[in-house]
Amino acid sequence: MAKILITGGLGYIGSHTAVVLIEKGYEVVLVDNLSNTRQEVLEGIEQITGKRPVFYAMDLAEKQEVAELFAREKDLMGAIHFAAYKAVGESVQEPLKYYQNNLCSLIYLLAALDQIPGSALIFSSSCTVYGQADSLPITESAPIKPAESPYGNTKQIGEEIIRDLCAVSNRIKAIALRYFNPIGAHSSALIGELPLGVPQNLVPFITQTAIGIRERLSVFGDQYPTPDGTCIRDYIHVVDLAEAHLAALERILGGSMNQTYEVFNVGTGQGNSVLEVVHAFEAATGVKLNYAIAPKRPGDVIAAYADTQKVEQVLGWKARYTLEESLASSWAWEQNIRKK
Ligand code: UD1
Repeated sequence: MAKILITGGLGYIGSHTAVVLIEKGYEVVLVDNLSNTRQEVLEGIEQITGKRPVFYAMDLAEKQEVAELFAREKDLMGAIHFAAYKAVGESVQEPLKYYQNNLCSLIYLLAALDQIPGSALIFSSSCTVYGQADSLPITESAPIKPAESPYGNTKQIGEEIIRDLCAVSNRIKAIALRYFNPIGAHSSALIGELPLGVPQNLVPFITQTAIGIRERLSVFGDQYPTPDGTCIRDYIHVVDLAEAHLAALERILGGSMNQTYEVFNVGTGQGNSVLEVVHAFEAATGVKLNYAIAPKRPGDVIAAYADTQKVEQVLGWKARYTLEESLASSWAWEQNIRKK
């Protein structure tokens, strides 16, 4: 089985993807600079899979370190690139930090992969590239809208850099996965999302409110042009998302990809409003949630959910978990980390 580099391998999506690949028999090499996670995640991966992957605490935005990594780990056949900063608000305040980290690491990684004939790259992109799409559900051919933040811009520019390299390289092929909203945690509750400080995303804020760390959830806006007035998103279980990475990797390594670069939406195809998520959480867990309507959050789009035809037909991948199952797994994880 091929040896695959997972950057950001101790992060939220990276750790779940590491588990999926190890369970499939891949040899994985994990890299993480530990800027937004903890080394204990490695223990979680080991407990789940019974294997302790090779791990390097290092920064991919250092060119020399990336070259050394590839020199040491000789037979790498591909990389799944999660390592990136992802806080939208912070990216507005510190744009250079985002451009430097998110783009330099990608460029150095591509330069290294471009030395390996037949190599594969899977890139973490985001539905944020669509902005407020003109029609729903969103297909991959929907126009890319001007980015709302430097963070979003790094995803757009990242896709362009990969596309341009793949157009001329006869060594590397790549797939960008545009994720909708990842939630949930592994069924073992041994790995999950570890938000540092006050969570910005909806589901970690819900679970922290339910467990009593936050007093109340603010529902950002209830006057949007949606059935209940709150924003609509497509919430995808992180294990489903991890499996989409495996399918994308196998498409490239298995030789069934004719083009050199492709993009896929990864979502459930179902849109749910903020209030629907709140009520689904209450129904799935039996916990009553303290929430109140609050002003809109600047930059939020009204509604986004995926058209999943392309990913289903071409990658043969489909989300398996329901919203309630995803939320129940987020809750199990929250309870487990508070016990520790
Ligand atoms: C956000 C980012 C997006 C990024 C993604 C990565 C913004 C504007 N967008 O997506 O670029 O790719 O995270 O994780 O930051 N909500 C509340 N109360 C809260 C938190 C959220 O009502 O305390 C609402 C939001 O208004 C939104 C929905 O919940 O309607 C989902 O929010 P969130 O989890 O932050 O995801 P996105 O904004 O979709």
